[in-house]
Amino acid sequence: MTSIISKLFLIFVLLIILLKWSESVNLNSFETRYIEVPIDHFAATPTSRTFKLRYLINSKNDANYIEGGPIFLYTGGEREITIAAQNTGFLFEIAPLFKALLIFVEHRYYGTSLPFGNASFTILENLRYLNTKQALADFALLIQELKNDFFSNYTKTTTKTEPIIAIGGYYAGTLSALLRMKYPHLVRAALTSSAPLFYLPELTSCEGFYQRVTQVFERYGSERCVKSIKLLWDIIENLTKSKMGMTFISSTWKLCKKLETAKDVQTLVDWLRNIFTELSIANYPYASEYYNPVPAYPVMTFCNKFDTGYLNDTKQFIESFANALQIYTNYTGKTSCNNIYSKEEDLNDVAWKYQICTELIMPKCSTEQDMFLTYNWTYEQFALDCYKKFGVRPRPNYIYLEYGIPNLKYFTNILFSSSALDPASWGVVDLKKSNKFDKSLMTLQIIDAPHLMEFRGTNTIDNDYILQARKFYISILKKWLK
Ligand SMILES: *[C@@H]1O[C@H](CO)[C@@H](O)[C@H](O)[C@H]1NC(C)=O
Ligand SMILES: *[C@@H]1O[C@H](CO)[C@@H](O)[C@H](O)[C@H]1NC(C)=O
Ligand SMILES: *[C@@H]1O[C@H](CO)[C@@H](O)[C@H](O)[C@H]1NC(C)=O
Ligand SMILES: *[C@@H]1O[C@H](CO)[C@@H](O)[C@H](O)[C@H]1NC(C)=O
Ligand SMILES: *[C@@H]1O[C@H](CO)[C@@H](O)[C@H](O)[C@H]1NC(C)=O
Ligand SMILES: *[C@@H]1O[C@H](CO)[C@@H](O)[C@H](O)[C@H]1NC(C)=O
Repeated sequence: MTSIISKLFLIFVLLIILLKWSESVNLNSFETRYIEVPIDHFAATPTSRTFKLRYLINSKNDANYIEGGPIFLYTGGEREITIAAQNTGFLFEIAPLFKALLIFVEHRYYGTSLPFGNASFTILENLRYLNTKQALADFALLIQELKNDFFSNYTKTTTKTEPIIAIGGYYAGTLSALLRMKYPHLVRAALTSSAPLFYLPELTSCEGFYQRVTQVFERYGSERCVKSIKLLWDIIENLTKSKMGMTFISSTWKLCKKLETAKDVQTLVDWLRNIFTELSIANYPYASEYYNPVPAYPVMTFCNKFDTGYLNDTKQFIESFANALQIYTNYTGKTSCNNIYSKEEDLNDVAWKYQICTELIMPKCSTEQDMFLTYNWTYEQFALDCYKKFGVRPRPNYIYLEYGIPNLKYFTNILFSSSALDPASWGVVDLKKSNKFDKSLMTLQIIDAPHLMEFRGTNTIDNDYILQARKFYISILKKWLK
């Protein structure tokens, strides 16, 4: 009897360990390395300075690597590279199958890869090397150095070359595709997911992003929840007209700094809009930590808590919202207060805003069709805001000129996948917008999945769409590596 119980207990423990281990990758299996790269790849001055670009290499799997085997290179995007590594368990799982080495390289100006250290963001002059062209050159240099140094330790003959597949999700996916387009002699193919390569003015309209956020709330929350959120903005506006109202919101929502000015209120609104957006993007069916720690199906959990029927009672409405908000801001119970200025203080976010203000643009607006305050995006206002913030003006035509987008007819071997319900998939490549294209360019649409879910480690509750997408990835990788 006791032995059955202890066996069951052991199975239970193993199951828990397996589940815990599955979606999120343990960084201990990676070795952190650095490569010296020039701050400016395109200047011939011999004094040109360098900095340390960080990359992670799956050293525990080194043993699986065989001479001439492939390298899966995750081309880091707008966040610390460790986050990408932790949330890309799928690659970790399939690396042994392909006897592949797995490398995650950080994007300059993010994480620890800062060209000017702590001064990278303090003066405008130091930001000028933050662009896609320099970032791609970093990745290209890394590939070349790896081939010359690291892989020469594995490869006895010089005739064999290691096929390299660039892989990435969201902006990292954009970079994978661009790396294949700009450096076809270095990477054989690119596997991208949710890459907003076409999210440019005049190519993709501005209202789709927030409409998708709203659709996720309608589908996984409720119509009523969406209605309550629509009402929230009016209630905030009404309440913050008076000092008393500002104090009430500040204390009920436990803000670190009391609301005092119109700018504070605007920051609060932006902070909330961002929370709804992140909830919808990271609406995974299990507890996760993509942005903040949240429970399974965070949108549903949020809406269940918020859906209280107090629509006619402002005080209870604000209190009920405070309670619901905790599933995002305080799931661990360790947050003492809510800092609505956290984004402005986060250097990764400053870097990202700068990139949006210069090359990536990605216009977002709100209409009656979504649950946010109506907001018209105009290029003039956007350019003005960028100038005020960074002293730069966007270059809306740069990406078109530099990479040939949306004309893809000269490019091959790229998969563009996306999820129809993921707001962050808005602006992915639509092959119909290209004149002509090679049949080795492909799109894959996953019907219903949160952001980059198919890149995550296997979980028992993965739906069929996810399983099929992963199967397709394996088959396309096999084809490319033949
Ligand atoms: C940068 O600032 C952080 C915190 O302010 C500090 O811990 C770190 O040592 C600084 N690094 C450099 C290179 O000055
Ligand atoms: C390659 O092997 C040599 C000799 O064993 C070693 O010194 C060097 O660090 C290795 N290079 C890398 C990048 O591991
Ligand atoms: C905001 O205040 C106005 C005027 O006092 C009122 O008519 C309106 O119903 C209020 N809106 C909300 C959502 O409370
Ligand atoms: C809100 O509506 C409910 C019924 O839906 C009613 O019982 C309650 O008294 C109302 N509260 C206020 C403050 O109007
Ligand atoms: C977070 O939860 C803890 C424990 O329930 C609570 O003491 C604290 O006030 C909460 N913080 C916020 C910001 O809601
Ligand atoms: C946004 O644009 C629409 C249509 O062009 C216009 O009717 C509306 O007044 C504008 N809203 C704002 C807030 O400017």
